[in-house]
Amino acid sequence: MLQLSLSWLGLGPVAASPWLLLLLVGASWLLVRVLIWTYSSYDNIRRLRGFPQPPRRNWFLGHLDLVQSSEEGLLNTQDLASTYGVVRIFHPACIKPVLFAPAAIAPKDVVFYDFLKPWLGDGLLVSAGDKWSSHRRMLTPAFHFNILKPYMKIFNDSVNVMHAKWQRLVTEGHNLLDMFEHISLMTLDSLQKCVFSFDSNCQEKPSEYIAAILELSALVAKRNQQVFLHTDFLYYLTCNGRRFLKACRLVHHFTDAVIQERRRTLPKEGVDDVLKAKAKAKTLDFIDVLLLTQDEDGKGLSDEDIRAEADTFMFEGHDTTASGLSWVLYNLAKHPEYQERCRQEVQELLRDREPKEIDCELPLHSPHLHSQDACRISPLLYLCGWVWELWAGLRARRGREESPGLSPPPTPARRNCIGQTFAMAEMKVALALTLLRFRVLPVDEEPRRKPELILRAEGGLWLRVEPLSSSPQ
Ligand code: HEM
Repeated sequence: MLQLSLSWLGLGPVAASPWLLLLLVGASWLLVRVLIWTYSSYDNIRRLRGFPQPPRRNWFLGHLDLVQSSEEGLLNTQDLASTYGVVRIFHPACIKPVLFAPAAIAPKDVVFYDFLKPWLGDGLLVSAGDKWSSHRRMLTPAFHFNILKPYMKIFNDSVNVMHAKWQRLVTEGHNLLDMFEHISLMTLDSLQKCVFSFDSNCQEKPSEYIAAILELSALVAKRNQQVFLHTDFLYYLTCNGRRFLKACRLVHHFTDAVIQERRRTLPKEGVDDVLKAKAKAKTLDFIDVLLLTQDEDGKGLSDEDIRAEADTFMFEGHDTTASGLSWVLYNLAKHPEYQERCRQEVQELLRDREPKEIDCELPLHSPHLHSQDACRISPLLYLCGWVWELWAGLRARRGREESPGLSPPPTPARRNCIGQTFAMAEMKVALALTLLRFRVLPVDEEPRRKPELILRAEGGLWLRVEPLSSSPQ
């Protein structure tokens, strides 16, 4: 039998069993990986030494705990920026190369996005490379304004439900409301209707599915803060890890059931005609569009892909839009004179309209290009652009005139938000109807910002709402 000399390890000759050889190969591979990682870390540290840096808090974690997800953390980051000269870019001409970088050289955040994979599969947000490019091309038409038009009615209906609830709460003496809570439920309600044509009435009664989505979003954000739980093995041993998997199963089960049901009811022949009829009757939802979509070779998406994309829309579309709306309402509450100017403009636009419903014909549709990419930076920025345009009447022209080079290229080579038209339309409906029916007022205590995937407020973002006496319902 083949003898392996391990005398250099102080061991006598050992029979070279395949297992031993495998172990040696494995150990060598691990050693090489560790050496490569150590060298590249050392090289990065050496290069970064050229920059001034704040003292480390901890020998092991380095600067990690310097950036906390809290109000203090944000202020601290601001201080660090001024003391240590961290570069912050504001001018469109400087931001352009970053925002317009091709997807190939703007890699996705592998750490955070990995946490989302068990939930979102290989959907647009987390996928990369050829799969991402091909799916991005296939899904872009799903967000065309013509496809989104029928969703305006859904947005109006969901906002009406939220406002009816606000009216009821105010009548019962509760005029202090957490905007995040109410608006997140409203955006989830809209999404569930637009993605699945499913009305869970989640704004009025608890829904297991909606609760699971809220729980998954919260758990992912929490895990991101806990460095030691970044490893899957450890995370899934924890109680939160198990809750995460349970919620994933529930959400997948819901999406799978809708896909199966839709496939079952779609005829084998003439699918196009059925879907065209649905589009005409304005009942086409995202699942239909995903079932219909095909690549250049006529290949459609698998059920697993459809699930991943639908789950991604539910995740990407609710918190982001809710955060944008909540912070805009907070800012309008803080600046009543601007709130009044916005309200007057909405009233003017809706003057001869009965019932008061926002539709896409209203000149509220301003697809200005600045805000599309501002959504990468913060939801607050994203909508503020529109609010400004709403009352200043500058609309799309403004962005182009100020920086003519900012038109996006026609190909989907860049990574940006595919849902921006959807989000803008929903936010405009919600904001316009809210201004028409309610006055929002600040509370005494300032909110403490809490940056997670989107900007939240610790303990919620509370505002006082006051129904306007002549508000149309
Ligand atoms: C104000 C609301 C929104 C904001 C601020 C926002 C922000 C963003 C940002 C910054 C990205 C880029 C992420 C990255 O490259 O890593 C993104 C991607 C994405 N968003 Fe949005 N989003 C919003 C609304 C929506 C809505 C309503 C939907 C769907 C209904 C949506 C679906 C997506 C998807 C699928 C991606 C991945 C696109 C890709 O990688 O090709 N988003 N969003």
